[in-house]
Amino acid sequence: MKNILCIGAGYVGGPTMAVIASHCLEYRVVVVDINPNKIAAWQSDQLPIYEPGLDEVVRRARGRNLFFSTDLNQHIAEADIIFVSVNTPTKSFGQGAGRAADLQYWEKTARQILEISTTPKIVVEKSTLPVRTAEAMEVILNSNAKGLHFDIVSNPEFLAEGTAIRDMEEPDRVLIGGRNTPSGQKAIQSIVDIYAHWVPRERIFTTNLWSSELSKLVANAFLAQRISSINAVSALCEKTGADVNEVSHAIGLDHRIGPKFLKAGIGFGGSCFRKDILNLVYLCEYYGLSEVAAYWEQVVRMNENQQQRFVSNMLSAMFNTITGKRIVLFGAAFKANTSDTRESPSLAVCRSLLEERAEVVISDPHALENARIDLGELAQKVIFEPDPVTAVKGAHAIAIMTEWDDFTRLDYEAIYRSMVKPAFIFDGRNILDHEKLYQIGFNMYMIGKPPLIHNTLP
Ligand code: NAD
Ligand code: UGA
Repeated sequence: MKNILCIGAGYVGGPTMAVIASHCLEYRVVVVDINPNKIAAWQSDQLPIYEPGLDEVVRRARGRNLFFSTDLNQHIAEADIIFVSVNTPTKSFGQGAGRAADLQYWEKTARQILEISTTPKIVVEKSTLPVRTAEAMEVILNSNAKGLHFDIVSNPEFLAEGTAIRDMEEPDRVLIGGRNTPSGQKAIQSIVDIYAHWVPRERIFTTNLWSSELSKLVANAFLAQRISSINAVSALCEKTGADVNEVSHAIGLDHRIGPKFLKAGIGFGGSCFRKDILNLVYLCEYYGLSEVAAYWEQVVRMNENQQQRFVSNMLSAMFNTITGKRIVLFGAAFKANTSDTRESPSLAVCRSLLEERAEVVISDPHALENARIDLGELAQKVIFEPDPVTAVKGAHAIAIMTEWDDFTRLDYEAIYRSMVKPAFIFDGRNILDHEKLYQIGFNMYMIGKPPLIHNTLP
């Protein structure tokens, strides 16, 4: 039996290893983390993340060939293949602050592997990393006095939260990069062998190390770029009477453009798009490519602009003051079907509304606890209410922040009756039946469409 170890039991490490263990019975898969609470949760019935289908996969494999542990040293010693899936956030200090990737967790892991290992190993970059990180990893690991050889393989993860299990089960592609040396090729083959248990061979793409590392950053940059592009168009639609949903449908029918990732909204969130693009920008600047850096940076700036524009529209619609007004944010998660609130547009909007001294209420079916943590001290100023119908009582406005289905199924007639008039809905995800809500009496503001406003003058 081969031993696989994954260091980092987060959104990537946990689900990916659960799927690998469920398909590869002849591998013993252990996931370790420095956070004992997280490991305890992975060992319990209350998994630390909400992800559709995850419970079943974990239940199937856990205790059979999938284990969770805090004992890094023991499991490093036993492992043949080590996936490293620790967090690689944006650096918040020193050179490159606000842009470059903070590689401290990554490097710490490499040194720990080196210290404990007594046998050669394949070390797999699962975290998203700046291109050429593997070079540093090779130098650190192979400059040992023990005579041990480590092969570094890049195997970036493309899963999206909310669909992680499906993305792992049926990936568009699995990317594996390594050195073009006999031992590098053997290492690539070892990782191919794992995925080949359930992924058709033609979807497993092997490349050199740098192409693999860079492709991950570029994939996220392209996805985010599409969202910023359609959001930029939404601003123009609001000025011209065009409807952004119609425009995105019209352009998406061209098979060269395609329909996906063209949904205008309040901007992208999540732990990765912003950080990975800023990392790409930093790399371009590092290599003296200032025009290329500026091009990609604009994707992030446009995203910030979309959120600011949303709040400005709210303010001007509500007579230029929201001080003391109860505004209910429907959704805290950065997208539906996840409890993750990292970089959530909802929390950015919440902060701006608090600056305007509004009374902010947040309602979300799964993400309230994370929202409270992410808001830090500001959380004291926010009301967290799981029931949306209770949340809106006495409110002046509702703002749709996350596209949870739950919010489309509410009794908006009853909601309207319980709100202060004129009652406003700002649909930041364009998920509601706007005409129907307008007929009920709401003033409706959408993304990339003309608003539907009742004449409130007598
Ligand atoms: P996460 O914060 O959810 O998990 C990372 C885990 O690593 C944490 O639990 C942390 O305690 C642990 N950790 C940090 N240092 C450690 C150490 N020295 N030893 C043991 N454990 C340690 O992060 P994540 O969302 O899983 O992302 C991990 C990486 O995968 C990042 O590079 C990210 O960019 C990338 N990625 C994330 C997603 C996603 O959807 N979240 C998708 C693709 C790629
Ligand atoms: C994204 C990528 O889709 C994954 O391939 C990648 O592995 C991952 O980042 C990562 O590296 O972390 P994720 O952030 O989980 O996955 O979710 P997405 O579905 O990509 O959505 C990101 C954000 O864009 C969300 O806030 C979502 O609401 C927004 N979005 C998405 C739009 O505003 N419009 C769209 O058309 C699509």
